[in-house]
Amino acid sequence: MTLDYLVFDPSPCSFPRPRVPVLPRGFEPAGADDARLLSDVPPLNGRGVYFSRGRYALGEAYRRAGIDGDSALLAPSYHCVTMLDPALSLGADVLLYPLLADLAPDLAALDQLLERSSKPVKALLATHFFGFVRDFSALKQWCDARDIVFVEDCSHTLFTERYQVGGAGRYGRFVASSPYKFFPSADGGWLYAPDATALADAATDQAAWMAELRGVKQCIDAARLPRVGPADIGALDGQLATIFEDEPVAGDDRRVQRAAQSPQYQREVEHLSALRASRWLIGHASVSSAIHRRQANYRRWLQAVAGMPHCRPLYPELPEQVVPYMFPLCIEHPMPHFYWLKQLAVPVWRWDEMAVSACPVAADYRLHLLHLPCHQALSDDEMAWMIAALGKVLCGQVGGAGR
Ligand SMILES: Cc1ncc(COP(=O)(O)O)c(C=O)c1O
Repeated sequence: MTLDYLVFDPSPCSFPRPRVPVLPRGFEPAGADDARLLSDVPPLNGRGVYFSRGRYALGEAYRRAGIDGDSALLAPSYHCVTMLDPALSLGADVLLYPLLADLAPDLAALDQLLERSSKPVKALLATHFFGFVRDFSALKQWCDARDIVFVEDCSHTLFTERYQVGGAGRYGRFVASSPYKFFPSADGGWLYAPDATALADAATDQAAWMAELRGVKQCIDAARLPRVGPADIGALDGQLATIFEDEPVAGDDRRVQRAAQSPQYQREVEHLSALRASRWLIGHASVSSAIHRRQANYRRWLQAVAGMPHCRPLYPELPEQVVPYMFPLCIEHPMPHFYWLKQLAVPVWRWDEMAVSACPVAADYRLHLLHLPCHQALSDDEMAWMIAALGKVLCGQVGGAGR
């Protein structure tokens, strides 16, 4: 199947490398708080399979759900390409279902999509975006009634062999997660099935020892990178003055067609397990600290943006059981605000490469929804620097020089 994508190419903008890591680094070992926390949660050990990334865990789930060249996958219209890639690699059709403004699936639209599909739909992917675990029971019922396999995407939730955040993993016949997004490991995807027989005989290959060593080096190097400090906040005004002197360079936003998976999905590593060092680290890092600090950083973002113009948090409340993956922020003027943030080397993610659908929410969020880090390894100075940069950028002038 050929899918139309809209792809934002930032290369004409020459953005510098982010000065703060988007994902955690360093290592904080599990301690007494973890023992207390983990004793309340039954571990899921021994029932799952490690992959190098969540996308390959999804690939195995799709395959086991019967996805192939004669079938179709239903997937959320707001997505990163690696959620679709494994199905495209299997030769399947991908149908994008619309989402509501809070990224909940629009159930009313599903039947129509099913009727229009030229191939039988074998699986549906549903995502707990940004760690906000949803009640998917109605969606699961819809799937069960039609013999469609429910694949639960826990990539944005803290879902590992040791810990399962508030209700995640309750719905899917297969549950895929990306523990490397929550722990400072070099890699790590995980596939779990509540009914262990669904993963019977699933096996992955061990990485070579050279790859293991490279993974350890990568973690050590990341932990030793220089960090921003108070002086960097003082320097922001001068940097912005220089940036404002030039007209912002728009990146190239173009439409491309793809008949197969993107280069981000490498079939040759589909059956590779996560590195041993990653598995050890994911099993021994402090979960309680990750939960506590992520929630505190999310709240700090919420407080900071409350007084800022031209933006609104996608989720203005943080329920107690949510462990956030990132802080999603909608901005009114991606040009120039996204551009200025990137020029300041603020770590901003956006899903600006996305398959085109009829969903207006996905079309809007592709360029307007920023993903800002809130992970446990951010220092106070790093949070303060990102918040100061965001505030100064959003107070800058829109539509030309910002002075
Ligand atoms: C919601 C979601 N699902 C799945 C994936 C694939 O995860 P991974 O990067 O571990 O392959 C991603 C990637 O960022 C994602 O954001």
